[in-house]
Amino acid sequence: MTLDPATLRRDFPIFANNPGLVFLDSAASSQKPAAVIDGIANFYRTDYANVHRGVYRLSARSTELYEQARARVARFLNARQESEIVFVRGATEGINLVAYAWGGTFLKEGDEVLLTELEHHSNIVPWQLLRDRIGFKIVVAPIDATGGLDLAALEKLISLRTKLVAVTHLANATGALVPIEAIAPLAHAKGAKLLVDGCQAAPRLALDVQALDCDFYVFSGHKIYGPTGIGVLYAKKAILDAMPPFQGGGDMILNVTFEKTIYQGPPARFEAGTPDISGAIGLALALDYVDGVGRGAILEHEEILTGYGVDRIARLPGVRLVGAGQQRLGILSVEAEGIHPHDLATLLDAQQVAVRAGHHCAQPLMERLGLGATTRASFGIYNDERDIDAFAAAIQVAQKTFKR
Ligand code: ALA
Repeated sequence: MTLDPATLRRDFPIFANNPGLVFLDSAASSQKPAAVIDGIANFYRTDYANVHRGVYRLSARSTELYEQARARVARFLNARQESEIVFVRGATEGINLVAYAWGGTFLKEGDEVLLTELEHHSNIVPWQLLRDRIGFKIVVAPIDATGGLDLAALEKLISLRTKLVAVTHLANATGALVPIEAIAPLAHAKGAKLLVDGCQAAPRLALDVQALDCDFYVFSGHKIYGPTGIGVLYAKKAILDAMPPFQGGGDMILNVTFEKTIYQGPPARFEAGTPDISGAIGLALALDYVDGVGRGAILEHEEILTGYGVDRIARLPGVRLVGAGQQRLGILSVEAEGIHPHDLATLLDAQQVAVRAGHHCAQPLMERLGLGATTRASFGIYNDERDIDAFAAAIQVAQKTFKR
């Protein structure tokens, strides 16, 4: 493995402060390296002021750092220009922004929005809220028997009525990887836009929004070793230009009178109010950190751990890995016979193994899989095979506890 988790773990103070912790819940939120924690503290200590407002030098410096963070994200995603990057609170706000501003303007009764059975609630509920106002139809592409997206079925569901295909890049509940490169031409051939929820993909894959040819891409900072409260909406410039504001307030205007307001162009048009300045700067530091480790090395590491985990779980009697299709990455959802996932997660926690249990904010997928809940282990750059062994051993202890 080109990446050394034991060395990287030393960059994350949480592990020194919680000896023995086996952290397998990075899909919910990843831990933060000292470079991010200290960088945010240093920014508050030395460069902090509000942005885009002050004429004084401190504010100019803060503004420069904030805008450099935007440029950093643009580079990370290989966006064509910085103005295609809108800072939001997280992927959830990014999707709600697209639903409200783009969907609210361009979707009409009779149109269709195509989702998939793999989606997180944050890529379902915003579309339902809008559907209930506008009256378009939500169509859902199914998974196949193995748990992967059924691409052939999705293709059949795209028609000239489809105005948007909104799909996860990597399913948070199961780890199923979705071939965005194959979906983009299908959507665009029918004139539909493509929105990708990249929450779980951004920390694990090298991303290139131009190569993916998606129209919108969203991800959250806190899942990619950055702070909470900051996320990214990427959208093609021409699309952002055509979108009205999401929220009104300071900084998104050119001129305000009581009769009429003229808005700024993107991205400022979509960033009303004082933004999460330190969050954006912390996110840029996290992306520096990730690129310092190397995205090729991170992907290889995730693939190795995923393969190891799949084999390890296959050898555990009474434990079933939930299907994720042909390509699974970084996330393993399991069911242990006779043990409720919440009980299992509690028994694992008693052995210092931190995992998530529940429906993972993907209730329609759970329903489709015939499951109420699962126990989910997910990886970060600080995990290694020993963590997976600890997960497997802790499950066996839990099974014995239950048999007593
Ligand atoms: N979406 C996050 C998860 O999958 C919170 O756990």
